[in-house]
Amino acid sequence: MSYFDQVTEAASYVKARLGNLKPRVGMVLGSGLGDVAESVANPVVVPYGAIPHFPESTVEGHQGRLVAGRLGGAPVVMLQGRVHFYEGYTPLQVTFPMRVLGLLGIEAVVLTNAAGGIDENYKIGQLAIITDHINMMGWNPMVGPNEPRFARKQGAGQRFFDMSEAYAGWLQQLARDTAFAEGFDLTEGVYLAVSGPSFETPAEIRAFRALGATLVGMSTVPETIVARHMGIQVLGISCITNMAAGLSTTPLSHAEVFETGKQVRWRLARLLEQLAPGISTLLEAEP
Ligand code: HPA
Repeated sequence: MSYFDQVTEAASYVKARLGNLKPRVGMVLGSGLGDVAESVANPVVVPYGAIPHFPESTVEGHQGRLVAGRLGGAPVVMLQGRVHFYEGYTPLQVTFPMRVLGLLGIEAVVLTNAAGGIDENYKIGQLAIITDHINMMGWNPMVGPNEPRFARKQGAGQRFFDMSEAYAGWLQQLARDTAFAEGFDLTEGVYLAVSGPSFETPAEIRAFRALGATLVGMSTVPETIVARHMGIQVLGISCITNMAAGLSTTPLSHAEVFETGKQVRWRLARLLEQLAPGISTLLEAEP
């Protein structure tokens, strides 16, 4: 069975469970951030293990469920937990869930993650809008035959596609306006993705800073790339769970990342709850 057919089968399985709920907005919740899905009203919960061909996360703090329902009144579909390259999954497996969201009919996706802060001005626990990314994973999920049937929009699904506005300007502006209206602090930055699982060395962080990165993490970039291939608009939000290697005296640990994530997830939940209806309204206004 082809990869496209596997994604189609997974999407059909989920669709059958959604009834007449038609989410236009997808969300992916990163490390320690999964509880945000608890804000979803009338949730339909589908464990990843039940979805044909769906990869299951092995990382602590990643729950592994698809949750669909209404958030702030708007229909959404959330992925509570993701799989990573460092777990041993192939690039196609890592991006399988994003492809499924695409075939479910979403037009915009909010990708959240835990990230290390490279900019000294960041504070632990801050949320940051991703304005752009640098792919240092050493691979690209689009390598291999192009599959134009993944296109969700006229002109999408091309072999070569533009990444000059990978993170949609209007979604960034909406996130800034929403955070401002809510009175909470939202910073921004350039996210650099590494494969992990080892954290970076201080020399790597100095190198990444010189390249223009202000955030570092082990996810999101592959999802952004396949979302753009499909013509889906992307908003990226990092939770700065720790200062990057060499910027603080304490050694990095997954426990720190996970704990900070847990502390800010309610702020993220509030932001996403406001954003979901805002994104839906603006998508409807689009030609
Ligand atoms: N480095 C890489 N990935 C991360 C970090 C980090 O410091 N924090 C959370 N995810």
